[in-house]
Amino acid sequence: MLGKLMTCAAVVLMLASAARAETIEEKAQVCAGCHGADGKPIDKTIPVLWGQTAGYIYMQLRDFKSAARKSEIMEPLVSEFQRDDMLALAEYFSQKPWPDLGQPRAPKDVAAKALAASASIGCPACHLDRFQGDGTVPRLAGQGRDYLAKTIDDFRTRARANNPGMSDLMQAASPEDLTALADYLAGL
Ligand code: HEC
Ligand code: HEC
Repeated sequence: MLGKLMTCAAVVLMLASAARAETIEEKAQVCAGCHGADGKPIDKTIPVLWGQTAGYIYMQLRDFKSAARKSEIMEPLVSEFQRDDMLALAEYFSQKPWPDLGQPRAPKDVAAKALAASASIGCPACHLDRFQGDGTVPRLAGQGRDYLAKTIDDFRTRARANNPGMSDLMQAASPEDLTALADYLAGL
């Protein structure tokens, strides 16, 4: 997937600089190579980190490190991180302003479908009314559309296995409803 974006050599260089980076700012510069120097990721399948909830970012880094959440890209990047590095990076990115990716609002019929599915499953009970998230629950509002669709699908197939509860919820919704939800959430 990232193959089309950067050569192997570029990824190896990033890994080398991640291992060398000393301060949190230096570490964060490595992240910016993909997650974006201005908070806008360089590819649509890469999630926004700026303004994401700190508890959630920390838990994902922890899960990539333990490989509870699989990612060929993220796992090696975090392998040398200690708990303090992950907590500091989570805090650092959560303090940044959420970037506007300029994604279109979902059309009325799509929004209606998404809101009906959201109400029946009860997404706002955890993700909150404006899908802004809190603590270890992620913000979904304005997240990249293609990333949302991919990770929702990964939960559904359990390729993303770090939260079986989310997988159960995703399996309770139809694929059409989930597509509508990705469109709706991205456009918030
Ligand atoms: C080579 C590109 C690349 C670099 C460099 C990179 N990431 Fe990622 N990151 C990704 C991709 C791709 C994903 C999505 C993985 C997936 O689909 O599950 C991701 C996912 C994440 C997630 C999960 C976010 C969410 O919404 O679930 C976090 C947290 C994260 N990265 C933090 C970091 C941090 C911190 C750094 C720097 C130490 C970093 N990343 C460096 C490509 C990168
Ligand atoms: C019982 C609480 C709960 C409910 C209900 C819930 N979620 Fe979640 N959701 C979570 C938690 C906690 C996570 C973080 C999981 C992890 O640690 O990987 C999450 C993660 C996600 C993610 C991944 C975000 C990212 O950046 O990778 C998406 C997308 C998502 N939820 C969508 C939904 C949708 C859509 C609904 C309703 C259909 C929903 N969730 C209902 C608690 C909930």
